[in-house]
Amino acid sequence: MATITKFEELEIWQLARQLSKKVFTLTEKEKFNKDFGIRNQIRRSVMDNISEGFGRGGNKEFITFLCYSIGSCSETQSQFYRALDYDYISQIEFDESYILAKTIINKTGSFVTYLNKSNVKGEKFKHRTETNHKPQTKMYNKLKNKEAKIAIIGLGYVGLPIALAFAKKIKVIGFDINEERIKMMQKNIDPSKELEAKDFEGCDIEFTNSIDVLKQANFFIIAVPTDIDEHKRPDLNPLYGASVTVGKAIKKGDYVVYESTVYPGCTEEECIPVIEDVSGLKFKTDFKVGYSPERINPGDKEHTITKILKIVSGCDDESLETIANIYKIIVEPGVHKAPSIKVAEAAKIIENTQRDVNIALMNELSIIFSRIGINTYDVLEAAGTKWNFLKFFPGLVGGHCIGVDPYYLTYKAEALGYHARVINSGRYINDSMGFYIAKQTVKKIIAAHKNISESRVLIMGATFKENVSDIRNSKVCDIIREFKSFGVSVDVIDPHASSEDLKHEYGFELMEKPGKKYDAIVIAVNHREYLHLDEAYYKSILSDGGILVDVKGVLRNKIKELSYWSL
Ligand SMILES: NC(=O)c1ccc[n+]([C@@H]2O[C@H](COP(=O)([O-])OP(=O)(O)OC[C@H]3O[C@@H](n4cnc5c(N)ncnc54)[C@H](O)[C@@H]3O)[C@@H](O)[C@H]2O)c1
Repeated sequence: MATITKFEELEIWQLARQLSKKVFTLTEKEKFNKDFGIRNQIRRSVMDNISEGFGRGGNKEFITFLCYSIGSCSETQSQFYRALDYDYISQIEFDESYILAKTIINKTGSFVTYLNKSNVKGEKFKHRTETNHKPQTKMYNKLKNKEAKIAIIGLGYVGLPIALAFAKKIKVIGFDINEERIKMMQKNIDPSKELEAKDFEGCDIEFTNSIDVLKQANFFIIAVPTDIDEHKRPDLNPLYGASVTVGKAIKKGDYVVYESTVYPGCTEEECIPVIEDVSGLKFKTDFKVGYSPERINPGDKEHTITKILKIVSGCDDESLETIANIYKIIVEPGVHKAPSIKVAEAAKIIENTQRDVNIALMNELSIIFSRIGINTYDVLEAAGTKWNFLKFFPGLVGGHCIGVDPYYLTYKAEALGYHARVINSGRYINDSMGFYIAKQTVKKIIAAHKNISESRVLIMGATFKENVSDIRNSKVCDIIREFKSFGVSVDVIDPHASSEDLKHEYGFELMEKPGKKYDAIVIAVNHREYLHLDEAYYKSILSDGGILVDVKGVLRNKIKELSYWSL
C-alpha cells in the first residue's frame, strides 16, 4: 500500500474542501427548495460525511472517511444521482462535482485498493464510480469545449431564442434563408420583436445564409415554420427546404434535431429521406436524428426557452443521451426523454390539440349561453369553484400553433383511415368564431334601429393574441371580412401590429387613432394598452345606442350604461 505524503494529504484536503463547498452551494440553490426533502438529504449526507472525515484528522482514518463520503456512501451518491435525474442539478454542475470527486479518488487510489482488500466500503465506491456516471458522448464534449459548432436553421420566434441561449454557452451558427432578417440579427435586432438588443450580448454566434459557413457545424437544429395550406393540409415545404440545406452541410458523425411542430412520423417519413438523398449518408450509421418540440409562447417573458422543461427524443439510446445532455446546457429545469421520435412529435401536437378542443367547448358554451341570455364568464367563474373544473375560456383561436397544429394530427389520422370527429368539430367551432362575433354585432346594430350599410365599427386589436406583434392566422381578420360583407365600414387600431404587414397579408391598414361616433366597438384583443380604458372612454367614441363588444369579457361587471355584449 502506497503511503500518502503530508503534501498530498494537504492537497486532498483542499480538494475535498472545494468539493464540499461545491456540493453545499449546489444544495443551497433556489431550485433545491422545490424539494426540501431531497435538498436536505443530499446536504446532510455529503456534509456530515466529509466533515466527519475532516474531523478524524488522521491520515488513514481521514482517507477512509473521505472515500466513504464521496464515493461509497450510498445515501450521498444515490441522492446525488437522483438530483441529476430529477434535474435538480444540471449535468454541468454534476460533472464539475464529479471531476473534483474523481480527482480526490485518483489521488487516494492506493487507499481504495487497500479498502477493497480489507472489504471496507471501498468496493461499493469503486463500482459506483465506474458504472454509475454516464460518460459524456464525443459530440457533447466537442460542443462543450467549443471544438464543434451547433447550427440553428430558421431564426424566427423559436429558432432565434434557442440560438442565443446556446450562444451564451457554446459556439453557434445562426442560419436563415431570409437575407433581410440575417442583416437585422447581425445588428442585434430581432425581426420577430420578441428579444431585445441586450439578449444578443455575450453571444458567440455567426448569423449567415451561407451553406459554406453552415458546413462548419456538426449539430443542426431545424426550427422552420410548419404552416397549413389553403386546404388546411400540412405545408412541409420549409421543412423539405431546410432538410435539403442540412443535407448539403452534414458530415459523418453529425446530428440533426427537428424542432418544428409536425405530425407523428413526419421526421422519419418525410425529412430524414431528404437528408439521406442529398448527403448520400445513411441515417443512424452515418448521422443521427432527434426531435425536440418547442414550448415557447410569444409575448410570455416567464416561460422562456431556458426556463421550461423540454421534451427530447433520439433515434437510438446514444443519440437520446447526447441530445438530452446538449439541451441541458441551456434548459435549466432539464429534459423529459421521450422513448421515440414519434412519441415526442405526438406529445407536442396533443399539447395544442387539447387546448384547442377545450377552447372550442367554451366557445360552444358561449353560443348556447348567449341564446339563454347569461354571461359565459359568470358561469365559468361559478363552475371554476369546483376543485377539478378546468380553466378554459372562450375566444378567438388564431396564430400558428393552436389553430394550426391540430390539422397536422387530423391529416395523419385521415391518412390512416380515421376521421377525427372531436378534433375536427373543435376546429370548425374555433375557426367560425370571428364570423359569429361579427354576425352577433350586426344583429345588435340592426336591433338598435341603425342602418347597417351606413354603420361604422371600430375594431381594437388585430394581432392573433394580446401584447404581441404577430398577425399570423389572426382571426380578427375574419371579423373584419364579415363586417365588410354586410357593407359596414371598419376602422382598425392596434398598438403592436404593423400596418404594412396587415396590408400585405390581409389587405387592410391601421388607423393611427380611433375616430368618433362608432355604432359598435369590438375589443378583439386584450392588449395591455386597452386595460385601463373605462366606460366613459368608450361612451365618448360611440354613437347614441352604440354597442360595446368585449370578446374576452374584460369589462364584465364594469359597464353600467352602454349596450354591452361579450362571448
Ligand atoms: N412561435 C411559436 O410560439 C411556436 C411555439 C412552439 C412551436 N413552434 C413551431 O416552431 C416552428 C417554427 O415556428 P416560428 O414561429 O419560429 O416560425 P417563424 O415564422 O417565426 O420563423 C421561421 C424562420 O425560418 C426561416 N425559414 C423558412 N424556411 C427556411 C429554410 N428552408 N431554411 C432556413 N430558414 C428558413 C424564416 O425566414 C424565418 O426566419 C414551427 O413548426 C412552429 O409550429 C412555434
